[in-house]
Amino acid sequence: MGLTDKQQKLIQAVSKNDIVEAKKCALACVTEDTTAKNKWFCSKYKNILESNGSNMMELPYDMKGLLLVEDVSNSFKSNRYFLSDREKNVYENIIRMQRINEKLMELGIPYINSTLLYGESGTGKTTFGRYISYKTGLPFCYLNFSHLVDSYMGSTSKNISKAFSYAITNPCVFMLDEIDCISIRRSDTNSSNSASGEMARITITLMQEFDKLPNDVIVIAATNRLDRIDEALLRRFSLKHEITVLDNREKTAMVSQYLNDVKMKFSDEEIKDMVESNSNQSMLLNDLIRRISLKISEEIK
Ligand SMILES: Nc1ncnc2c1ncn2[C@@H]1O[C@H](COP(=O)(O)OP(=O)(O)OP(=O)(O)O)[C@@H](O)[C@H]1O
Ligand SMILES: [Mg+2]
Repeated sequence: MGLTDKQQKLIQAVSKNDIVEAKKCALACVTEDTTAKNKWFCSKYKNILESNGSNMMELPYDMKGLLLVEDVSNSFKSNRYFLSDREKNVYENIIRMQRINEKLMELGIPYINSTLLYGESGTGKTTFGRYISYKTGLPFCYLNFSHLVDSYMGSTSKNISKAFSYAITNPCVFMLDEIDCISIRRSDTNSSNSASGEMARITITLMQEFDKLPNDVIVIAATNRLDRIDEALLRRFSLKHEITVLDNREKTAMVSQYLNDVKMKFSDEEIKDMVESNSNQSMLLNDLIRRISLKISEEIK
């Protein structure tokens, strides 16, 4: 028996390293097969492919522990994510540039689709990166610089190069989180101190790798210490955007959206209390989840 259309699409996706598309095709294959002899196999893999849990992707051995690559298409709860008008502009700009990247490449115009998000802790910088991955359907490729420096200080430059070479050959949303951990301004470092000399070398490696990126990689970097970032690295970002805390109207919308999605209702006073007593998105979400849990536990008493 020859290959079905769905099996052909699966082979095409695997040959292009497009893991998100490959998973979709694999799901279509196990869904279409109704033969009795494959019943157990198809049902097992259908469940796994449809699983809502975090969906980590297998990485080459030398990337394990260094990069995290996740298919967020099932794990990101888009109905619970509140997109303010400010971040909507940033999102639209990223998507617009992604759409024209082939044309720019044809014209020989280098453009790195790179956005630097800054702002205080808990405002949703990392979550915005996952949102972009969800919306574009590209894998979320996550590199945390704090972890990188703590665990592998001596080989940080080599590891940055390795991670970039993976991102270049695998279309993805490449998130560089807590980028300030390495990128102390080179002018601030004292070259007689070997640790700061090493930091300056690491920053230079990062910039060199940046310059090799093709137009079709979407880079999102995040920091809550914009003041620590080297000016030359800052210039490599086509867009710099501050994510701020939400105002009360936006916080109310974020809470209502979440409650709608979990099909729960709170009184206007309770929502007002939550909005007024939590300053950032992270605190608001934690408080909301605490109150939802309390409500559920009261209901099942
Ligand atoms: N716009 C939003 N809508 C819904 N939930 C949000 C939003 N922004 C942030 N959150 C929630 O707040 C929490 C903190 O977000 P996140 O970790 O992305 O913040 P951050 O800015 O990266 O913080 P840090 O600087 O400490 O790394 C997460 O649980 C996230 O789901
Ligand atoms: Mg973060």
